[in-house]
Amino acid sequence: TILILDFGSQYSHLITRRCRELNVYAELMPCTAKVKDLNFKPNGIILSGSPYSVYDDDAPHADPDIYTLGVPILGICYGLQEMALNHKGAVAQCSHREYGFAQIQISKINGNVSTDALFEGLGDDMQVWMSHGDQLSTIPPNFHSIGATKTAPFAAIAHDSKPFYGIQFHPEVTHTPLGKRVIGRFVVNICGCRTNWTMEEFIGKEINRIREICGPKGRVIGAVSGGVDSTVAAKLMHEAIGDRFHAIMVDNGVLRLNEAQQVNDMLNKDLGVNLTVVDASSLFLSRLENVEDPEQKRKIIGNTFINIFEEEAAKIEAAAEEEEKEGREKKGRVEWLLQGTLYPDVIESISFKGPSATIKTHHNVGGLLKDMKLKLIEPLRELFKDEVRALGRLLSIPAPLVQRHPFPGPGLAIRILGPVTRDQVKILQHADSIYLEEIRSAGLYNQISQAFAVLLPVKAVGVMGDKRTYEQVIALRAVQSEDFMTADWYVFPPEVLRRISSRITNEVAGINRVTYDISSKPPSTVEWL
Ligand code: XMP
Repeated sequence: TILILDFGSQYSHLITRRCRELNVYAELMPCTAKVKDLNFKPNGIILSGSPYSVYDDDAPHADPDIYTLGVPILGICYGLQEMALNHKGAVAQCSHREYGFAQIQISKINGNVSTDALFEGLGDDMQVWMSHGDQLSTIPPNFHSIGATKTAPFAAIAHDSKPFYGIQFHPEVTHTPLGKRVIGRFVVNICGCRTNWTMEEFIGKEINRIREICGPKGRVIGAVSGGVDSTVAAKLMHEAIGDRFHAIMVDNGVLRLNEAQQVNDMLNKDLGVNLTVVDASSLFLSRLENVEDPEQKRKIIGNTFINIFEEEAAKIEAAAEEEEKEGREKKGRVEWLLQGTLYPDVIESISFKGPSATIKTHHNVGGLLKDMKLKLIEPLRELFKDEVRALGRLLSIPAPLVQRHPFPGPGLAIRILGPVTRDQVKILQHADSIYLEEIRSAGLYNQISQAFAVLLPVKAVGVMGDKRTYEQVIALRAVQSEDFMTADWYVFPPEVLRRISSRITNEVAGINRVTYDISSKPPSTVEWL
């Protein structure tokens, strides 16, 4: 295992990614982690970059004990400076902030083994990506330069006798073409990590871990939505403990067309997961009556979801107790709650500054646990989204589901801009299903990160036959995005848009006009509410 200490750089999680792409397991921890508290001995440590300057009053620093742990250390950018400072070097502000491509000349020094180890086989010079305001001005004693750029004589340094390295550039970003190989040199050649972290291995280990923590009798409940994360998590639980995992799907009345049915068919019938679908649409819709404010809608849906989920959980618990009393089944009590938390959420909350202000309140089901006294089980907490998809494929989850676009918890309620009623839901469901059907049949679904229809609370004039109509407007949205923090609107082939528009206006009663949203995020958001 490689331990990555996070000093708050926007690229820290990419270091983790690159290690895993090399099939080396890496764990990201806040830079404040203490060596004495580690529950594993890492094969090597990587210090990340940071938005801070090492001399800032509130600059984060690593536990000095890492330098006596006897394992190789690689400092990246701020990490280099942090290591140098600890070894009595000095850092100074650059006259210009260096941001962008640079060419680094690799030094050939005395055939020094440790020197050659980091860049061995990577050539004499390398294109790299820089992003820093400070740089090393005095190299610490017992270190030497192993690479320089025009402006930075100590762009890469190594200790004379210990396996300590520092690089000013960012090997984790794709703008450094040989970056992954530099990371590979460090984690594989220098740290000696085995390249055996594969998804198959992960599944085996995770199933064993789940079995161990649940014991021979413990039961687990969890909510499923039909999305990738909850489906993969549910299937994994099912593989581990079979029917002792109880999945609950709440139909909140603002799902896509036939969605509850489809999820039931897939999870229950195809994947064999023990699933209860609760139709609570009337309750949700009645609570949403006359509500237009988006945050209000979110709150109502979130709280109602918790109410229903708790009721269902109580029923399962009561049935379990009954079975236990009668001695019919040797299954135990419901002790655990499954959550499909992913690594990016974990990273957000382990940051040394605490959860960032931008964390979305809509991540997962907040507050669910407060009164439930269940322990959390989070089998996906070490994975990134595309790793979850790979895991899904290995667990034989059908490809269309594995590739599915994200769908927000509050569902169509935040895509109906006016009050949410059964009629409005029906109109939007219909338009949305035509839209997605056409995108799929044009073979464009996987190129788009998220596509959906929005029902506007305005009416426009149209003509049908020789009659004037006065009906609502549908807005179509499709975006491409890496992480949904930013997004670009998708450029459709015109004939696809033409077909979608003509089908929606012809087939969906109550709609006589279709518009296409050409706003990017920022300044817009992906959703309209
Ligand atoms: P925005 O609109 O914030 O959307 O640009 C970014 C991503 O987040 C999803 N989203 C939500 N997901 N509950 C969710 O589960 C919500 O309340 C919510 N609001 C936005 C949105 O669909 C997009 O993928």
